[in-house]
Amino acid sequence: MNAESRTRLNQTPEWTALAKHREELGDVGMRELFAADSGRGTAYTLRVGDLYVDYSKHLVTDDTLRLLRELAAATDVFGLRDAMFRGEKINTTENRAVLHTALRAPRDAVIEVDGQNVVPDVHAVLDKMADFANRVRSGEWTGHTGERIRNIVNVGIGGSDLGPAMAYEVLRAFTDRSLTVRFVSNVDGADLHEAVRDLDPAQTLFVIASKTFTTIETVTNATSARTWLLDALGDEAAVAKHFVALSTNAEKVAEFGIDTANMFEFWDWVGGRYSYDSAIGLALMIAIGPDRFREMLDGFRIVDEHFRTAPAESNVPLLLGLLGIWYGNFHDAQSHAVLPYSHYLSKFTAYLQQLDMESNGKYVGRDGREVEWQTGPVVWGTPGTNGQHAYYQLIHQGTKLIPADFIGFARPVAELSEQLKAQHDLLMANFFAQTQALAFGKTPEEVRAEGVPEELVPHKTFKGDHPTTTILAPELTPSVLGQLVALYEHKVFVQGAVWNIDSFDQWGVELGKVLAKRVEPALTGDAEVEGLDASTRALVATYRELRGR
Ligand code: F6P
Repeated sequence: MNAESRTRLNQTPEWTALAKHREELGDVGMRELFAADSGRGTAYTLRVGDLYVDYSKHLVTDDTLRLLRELAAATDVFGLRDAMFRGEKINTTENRAVLHTALRAPRDAVIEVDGQNVVPDVHAVLDKMADFANRVRSGEWTGHTGERIRNIVNVGIGGSDLGPAMAYEVLRAFTDRSLTVRFVSNVDGADLHEAVRDLDPAQTLFVIASKTFTTIETVTNATSARTWLLDALGDEAAVAKHFVALSTNAEKVAEFGIDTANMFEFWDWVGGRYSYDSAIGLALMIAIGPDRFREMLDGFRIVDEHFRTAPAESNVPLLLGLLGIWYGNFHDAQSHAVLPYSHYLSKFTAYLQQLDMESNGKYVGRDGREVEWQTGPVVWGTPGTNGQHAYYQLIHQGTKLIPADFIGFARPVAELSEQLKAQHDLLMANFFAQTQALAFGKTPEEVRAEGVPEELVPHKTFKGDHPTTTILAPELTPSVLGQLVALYEHKVFVQGAVWNIDSFDQWGVELGKVLAKRVEPALTGDAEVEGLDASTRALVATYRELRGR
């Protein structure tokens, strides 16, 4: 597709063919689709690594999938994919390569950025992390007073928090239970307060995670953490044993007062939301150990290789990306739910929110023009079965189409007691029942047959036709987590490629940051701040009054 067509994506033959196909399909529902093809329940499935992916409960036919693949071919999704894997600077607005895949490349791989192979650097940092993690875990690395480190507090925000915090929760069963690991992100002082109030400073290691090391929330919290530590230990030299930094910015790390020998590096070709498998994962590595961390990287790599090499027909990230396009662009769906049936995945969807929404929440295309099609969806969700008793009502009987991913595991986590393991079947019965109910619903005739009074029949009818993807894995392991995250990373990539947006910048977060800097003096001092709008001016005045200033 030439540049002009990219600008007019929604007028290309591939796009209009999909729009026409959508019209022709009309109200064809799940019951008809399944009735027409008895093999659908197995034919519309794929496997990648340990993941069994069922996409049969979607409002699609073979023709839909073919037309979607034609759109992907026309927009050269695989061409951009290859450019990404090669290390080309596909993040054009920041003139950067996009190489999170290099973070999990094998030692002997060669991936060049500006003519330099980055893989040896990746492994050097991984080795340094492993050495440090082992020393903390074994007690060899002690605090300033010689006490063993028992507490790890990661201070970071956005990609420097959500990834490691999510993965720590997911892999809790693999963590060293004698360590307390906490994550502080919010500039609300309450976050740090609650994280450290019951900790002994002499046993606490702060991991300051910030790609830029200029993020105001992180620098502020890190400064307060240092004060908390020094108030207790009373010696500036303690910082060297209780603070390490994860960053791309050695200069700022040194300026903050952390010895760069205690800095774990990564690079500007790793986006913040794609970074928890880099040095940003240090707190996680300390918690689960280097071997488990490497198993997780292996999991990422399985899906990277699949995405890089599998043909379009069986390429799972491509498929999931295209299904999202089908609903967002041809069914007007506005959101996408990710519903894991695992307590351990409680932070998974929050992590995906940044991954997806910061990547594809864009209205300007790579060509600098406003796009005329919908881009990234609102991503949301929490683990089942809790959600069933909260918002599933709206998915089942509301007026909105909400495609959803259901993620579940065949086996419970090994360390649960036998009794708790037995609960797993109930959890998973709900998992399977929900996608069934969402897809096939319940007709008025079926409701009547149960003897329901006529006036209640409409209320008890479920229209169905709510699309879901089911992702089933044997067990929650570090590798499976890596596979899942890579799957979503590449899904987001596919969508950004089709929509012709730069999925790797995030200029949209800047304005709020600039304005916060401008407003702050009006809250703390007497300064009259120029340029506040009437609403904000009045709010600031009320705040000052209530704050007693
Ligand atoms: O403001 C958004 C953002 O830049 C994210 O993209 C990033 O993950 C987060 O802030 C934190 O940035 P840093 O790691 O540089 O502190």
